[in-house]
Amino acid sequence: MYDLVIAKGKIVTSTSVTEGDIGINNGKIAALGQNLEGRRVIDARGKLVTPGAVDTHVHLEMPIGKYSSTDDFYDGTRAAVCGGTTSIIDFVEPEDGQSLQDALAERRALADARSVIDYGLHMTIGPGQLDKLDQIPGIMDAGCGSFKLYMAYGLHLRDDQLYKALSAVGEAGGLPVVHAENWDIICALIEENIKKGNTSPHWHPRSRPEEFEAEAAGRVIKIAATAGSRVHIFHVSCPQVVEEISRAKVKGLPVTAETCPQYLLLTQDLYDRDGVEGALPVCSPPLRSDASRRELWQALGSGLFDTISTDHCPFCREEKGADLSAFNRIPGGVPSMEIRFSALYSEGVGKELISESQWVDLCCTTPARLFGLKDKGEITIGRDADLVVFDPHKEWVVTAGELQETAGWTPYEGLKLKGRPVYTISRGDILLDEGEFKAEKGRGCFLKTRTKA
Ligand code: URP
Ligand code: ZN
Ligand code: ZN
Repeated sequence: MYDLVIAKGKIVTSTSVTEGDIGINNGKIAALGQNLEGRRVIDARGKLVTPGAVDTHVHLEMPIGKYSSTDDFYDGTRAAVCGGTTSIIDFVEPEDGQSLQDALAERRALADARSVIDYGLHMTIGPGQLDKLDQIPGIMDAGCGSFKLYMAYGLHLRDDQLYKALSAVGEAGGLPVVHAENWDIICALIEENIKKGNTSPHWHPRSRPEEFEAEAAGRVIKIAATAGSRVHIFHVSCPQVVEEISRAKVKGLPVTAETCPQYLLLTQDLYDRDGVEGALPVCSPPLRSDASRRELWQALGSGLFDTISTDHCPFCREEKGADLSAFNRIPGGVPSMEIRFSALYSEGVGKELISESQWVDLCCTTPARLFGLKDKGEITIGRDADLVVFDPHKEWVVTAGELQETAGWTPYEGLKLKGRPVYTISRGDILLDEGEFKAEKGRGCFLKTRTKA
C-alpha cells in the first residue's frame, strides 16, 4: 500500500509515453506498475502524467532600481504550482563589498520563509564581484553551481571581464548563464532614437537589433571557448541567435540555450499599443517580429534549444507606466510563470510543432539535468515525487484576474489554451488538488545546483 498512487494515466517522459500507475512513498517515486494500491488514489484516466516542471530562470521580488518585481517567493511559487512547476531557480545579486556567502544566506532567508516549492539560486557575477572570483569554489560547495553574467545593463561585463569570470567559473566546473546583448550598440541606438524624439516603446526593439543579440551570443561563445568554459545562453529571442548556437553545437562546443514563452507567443507589435499598454510588454531582449517568432518554433521542433524557462520578472501597471517619457525608463520584464507549461503544450504539442516528449524534455528534464537537480525532472524510482497530472482537454482563456501572479496584468490576456494542470505534486505533497491550491508557506527547500561535470 503506497501513500499515494496516480493511477492509469498516460505517463509522458522525455523519452517515452506509456500507460500505468505511479506509487509514491515518503515523498519519493517508489513504484511504476499496474493496479497499485494507495491510501489515496488519483484517477488519472484521460490525463497526462509528467514530471513537475522546472523553471530555471525566474526573478522573484528582485530589486531593479527603485522597484522590486511584483511576485515574492510566496506569490511566485503559488503561481508556479498552479502552472505545474515544482522547482525554480532564482538569483542572488550580491551588493558590492558583500561576500558571495553572505549574499547567498540573505537570499536564502527570504526564499526559505516563503517558497512553497523547492528552489535553487544562480549567483550573479557583476563588475562588483570580479574581485571575489576566488570565492567561486566555496559558493559552489554551498550549492550555487551556476553563475549569471550580464552583457547588458549596469551589471554588464566588458569582454576582458567576461573572459576572467568565465575562466574562473570554468576552472571551478560551474555553469555560466549569460544575458547576451551588445550593450555599447544598444546605448548608442537608445541615445540616437531619443535625440530624434523616438521615445515610445515602438523603438525598444529597434534599439536592440537581432543582429547584435546574435553578435553578443557569438562573442560570448568564443570567449567561453577560449576560457575553457561551458556557456548557457539565456532568453534567446530570435533565429539569428539560434544560428550562432547551432554553429557552436556543430563544432562540438559545450553551449546550451534557453528560450521563453514570450518569444514564442508574443510579437513586437504589442509595443505599438497606446500609453501604458505599449509599455507593459517591455522586456529585454525585446519581443521580435512574427516571422522570427515562427522560426523560433521551428528551431524548437528541430531540437536546437535545450530548455524553456520564463525569465518571469513582472512589474505592476503603475510601475511600468510611471515614466513613459522614454522607452528606456520602463522597468523590463514580463510574467510567464503560471502559463509556461500549459502554453507550451497548447501552442506547441497542440499545434504539432513539438512532441509530448519534447515538451517534457524542454520544460522538465533537461532543465533539471543541466543545473544538476538530481532528484527532479524525471519519473524514475527513487526520485522526488514531483509530478503533474495534466488535463490535455481542458480549454481555458488566460485572464489576469484568474491567475495567481500578482502583477494584475498579463501579456497573454485573452489567449485561448487547451491543456492545464489539475494536480501538482511536490515531494509527494499535493499542492494543487483538483485545481485548488493547498500549500504551506515556506515548505520549499533550497536545492543545491550540482553542475560539475
Ligand atoms: O527584461 C527582462 N528580461 N528583465 C529581467 C532581467 C533579465 O534581463 O533577465
Ligand atoms: Zn536577462
Ligand atoms: Zn532574467
